Amino acid sequence: MSPQSTPSLEKSALSVPHLISIRDLTPADLDLIFHFSDQFREVLSRPIKRVPSLRDMTIANLFFENSTRTRISFELAEKRLSADVVNFSASSSSVKKGETLLDTVNNILAMKVDIVVMRHPSPGAPVFLAKHTDAQVVNAGDGTHEHPTQAILDAYSIRERLGRVAGLKVVIIGDIQHSRVALSNIFCLQKLGAEVMVCGPPTLIPRHMQTLNVHVSHNLREALAWCDVANVLRIQLERMDEGGGGMALRSFPSLREYAMVYGVNRRILDEVGKDILILHPGPMNRGVEITSDVADSGQSIILDQVQNGVITRMAVLYLLAARQRGPELVN
Ligand code: CP
Repeated sequence: MSPQSTPSLEKSALSVPHLISIRDLTPADLDLIFHFSDQFREVLSRPIKRVPSLRDMTIANLFFENSTRTRISFELAEKRLSADVVNFSASSSSVKKGETLLDTVNNILAMKVDIVVMRHPSPGAPVFLAKHTDAQVVNAGDGTHEHPTQAILDAYSIRERLGRVAGLKVVIIGDIQHSRVALSNIFCLQKLGAEVMVCGPPTLIPRHMQTLNVHVSHNLREALAWCDVANVLRIQLERMDEGGGGMALRSFPSLREYAMVYGVNRRILDEVGKDILILHPGPMNRGVEITSDVADSGQSIILDQVQNGVITRMAVLYLLAARQRGPELVN
């Protein structure tokens, strides 16, 4: 990135040393991440899609839970910034032999890692890590708590398509109870000036939603008629089955009934008759929370979200590294 296109560090530092929760960010932080994402979009349109910004840094991607989009997206973002990258997957590591999170991480940090990107099934694991290590920490999803970079890429994708986030009405539909995407999206959208509704069956909407200044609806048609943007969430069958004994049956009668009442399909969108922008963080259960004629339509920006994941994560890593290394990194 050329010095001409890079704001000075005094005006462009993130207010936080780690990215653990959207709650910690200011609206100015989000604007700054968007600003740099725009610049990295230009970088990725060049024949050589790489900048040397993080060439002397090492980033470890620690994934204690499955991931496709987030893991690949972070790795690509890191490589586009010229960082050295180490990948760790719990399923093929000594975690299987009983090693603790702290021991695992300390062993990796002993190899001089600067930034840790971590996905973990336990809410709060990234906070624990940040307290016990010197490395900067990026939360790539902690249990049912938060997934901050997903919310950033979602809001960025809305802004890209509609030109703004402020003043929009956004409904988050489906399995709010088990979703880390929902909470991060609520904080992010509200900080950017959007109005937020959650919609789903009462068994999938936690009571604390009432305290977050969001609208709550159990009627999909009503919610779609209200919104400009619908973010459709995955039914998280694996989390519903954590106690064992029969997946979604404890939250709603059957997948077929869920799809009939809360599935976003072409018929209900045509009946509502508005040009609603459709998002889904993935992975999708096609035919359950969303049908293919919606997911693959011109109304959907699902693949734009994936594409924007790389540039927004480049922006996050770049700005965090700038806090650690100072203005010479960014200029
Ligand atoms: N959106 C998302 O977090 O997808 P992955 O689980 O594939 O990373």
